[in-house]
Amino acid sequence: MKIEKFSDYEALSNHVAEALIATLQENPSAVICMPTGNSPRRTFELFVSKVKERSIDLSNFFFIGLDEWVGVPSELRGSCAYEFRSLLFEPLGIEDHQFHLFDGTSLDLEGECEMMDAVIQEHGGIDFMVVGIGMNGHIGFNEPGVEFDRYAHIVPLDETTITVGQQYFDQPMKLEYGITLGFNHLLNAQTVYLIANGQKKAEVVKRAAEGPVDSSFPASIMQRHMNGVIAVDAEAASGLSN
Ligand code: GLP
Repeated sequence: MKIEKFSDYEALSNHVAEALIATLQENPSAVICMPTGNSPRRTFELFVSKVKERSIDLSNFFFIGLDEWVGVPSELRGSCAYEFRSLLFEPLGIEDHQFHLFDGTSLDLEGECEMMDAVIQEHGGIDFMVVGIGMNGHIGFNEPGVEFDRYAHIVPLDETTITVGQQYFDQPMKLEYGITLGFNHLLNAQTVYLIANGQKKAEVVKRAAEGPVDSSFPASIMQRHMNGVIAVDAEAASGLSN
């Protein structure tokens, strides 16, 4: 794992957008996995504008959504599906057969997990994965205490996640469970970027990069990835010791 520091959020987002494009230029059928939340928002915007400007052909790539809130319909603003649609699929005209997302409203959530694992396997695994970090050190919905050797799974949400998660919705939401890729997916991905920006992420970035690798702080898993990058702006890097 390595750490890459950028002067600000714009430079960080620009770097990740360029890395995505480089991956797709090298391998047009690459499998890309992205998170939602505030951290990747500018990366999505820059990626979309660069793809348009440079007329990059995305007709062969495949997209996997990292996670979803259980019980939240995909049409609702705040669901991960809504974010992927509005930030990526609609602006670039990505067709339905080019992505696979969790359906958080499915009555068969175990089946959703099995299907996600099967789709990733059929596509030969994830080439480039971007993840964020929650205020309790989660990645996706891999909450503190998660088993590291999981594929897609369903997780009871931590209090912190339930509270912090309200910000994404227009009305108070009953959030209890998340459905998410597991750390087997993360460790098997060719390249993983954990992105974080802002002063409020300084402490969690420090623990992810320098703390013990332990399921009590899930993002510490990044230290085990040979091709893992923790990419941060100056504020999020401010707690790092070197
Ligand atoms: C959410 C999502 C994660 C996301 C994280 C950080 O709960 N499940 O996939 O990466 O929290 O979000 P943000 O970037 O808004 O801080």
